[in-house]
Amino acid sequence: MKGIVLAGGRGTRLLPVTLAVSKQLLPVNDKPLVYFPLSVLMLAGVRDILIITTPADMPQLERLLGDGSHLGLSITYAGQPEPNGIAEALIIGAEHIGGGPVALVLGDNVFHGHNFQELLRRECSRVDGCVLFGHPVRDPHRYGIAEAGHDGRLLSIEEKPARPRSNQAVVGLYLYDGDAVDIAKNLTPSARGELEITDVNRAYLERGKAKLVNLGRGFAWLDAGTPESLLQASQYVQLLEQRQGVRIACLEEIALRMGYIGADDCRRLGVALGASAYGQYVITVAEQFGNTQQEERS
Ligand code: DAU
Repeated sequence: MKGIVLAGGRGTRLLPVTLAVSKQLLPVNDKPLVYFPLSVLMLAGVRDILIITTPADMPQLERLLGDGSHLGLSITYAGQPEPNGIAEALIIGAEHIGGGPVALVLGDNVFHGHNFQELLRRECSRVDGCVLFGHPVRDPHRYGIAEAGHDGRLLSIEEKPARPRSNQAVVGLYLYDGDAVDIAKNLTPSARGELEITDVNRAYLERGKAKLVNLGRGFAWLDAGTPESLLQASQYVQLLEQRQGVRIACLEEIALRMGYIGADDCRRLGVALGASAYGQYVITVAEQFGNTQQEERS
């Protein structure tokens, strides 16, 4: 399965902070926001990833993540000159997707929860149509809102409804089979002039091929598009990391645990960042992992 991180947009709700810096590069506690959606794809086992961003922000993202080979990934980049809608990512990424299944994740979404990796791997391995993920929210008029039957079949989906039929928001992670690009190409722009991802999802619903997986209330899903939500995401991550002593969305650790890189590679990545607590954490993780492997061999 191929992956796409959509990290464009103007970040207007964060102005003036985003006048000179991409939203997806802003820090969430100890790491750039884009690490979070990227970590989701990595945990899902997706290693061939296209990052779509504005032409102006592309050099900084490339400086941060390069070609991904240090993490055992292949990362390429494409520009989205104007924020013409989330579904445009499927058209821009058509060649990258290559007619197969794709996982599309929004660059400002933060996910954290128990057994998320197992859930992702399970759902990615059997995409027939589209798989959406729902999470309860207090302010449903701000999101794509879905209703599902007991069997998880999607029954309705609306973008930012004035009168929401449920409080299940559709989170910014979408799994599609090979039809998504054609569906996106045939969309007409919405009243706000965008190719809406909700319209792609509705097309799958009309074919009877849309599923909604409820992430449940024990799961944390945050989007970091406003000063308040960015700060809340930082506070959430900081609290958990300080209390538990583990780091969320540490790409080097995930690459190591997923078997994308070895313990020596991981240690080297940590040393390069060694002046920070994050770097020290990567070194410790690599050394502990290396020791465990050695013990298992002897
Ligand atoms: O966060 C989940 C929600 O994301 C879903 O519940 C909605 O159904 C979906 O439409 C979307 O709603 P938002 O109002 O959050 O979308 P927004 O326009 O803020 O875009 C989300 C991210 O995608 C943002 O980080 C910028 C990026 N983006 C957006 C558009 C429209 C792009 O890179 N290019 C675009 O053209």
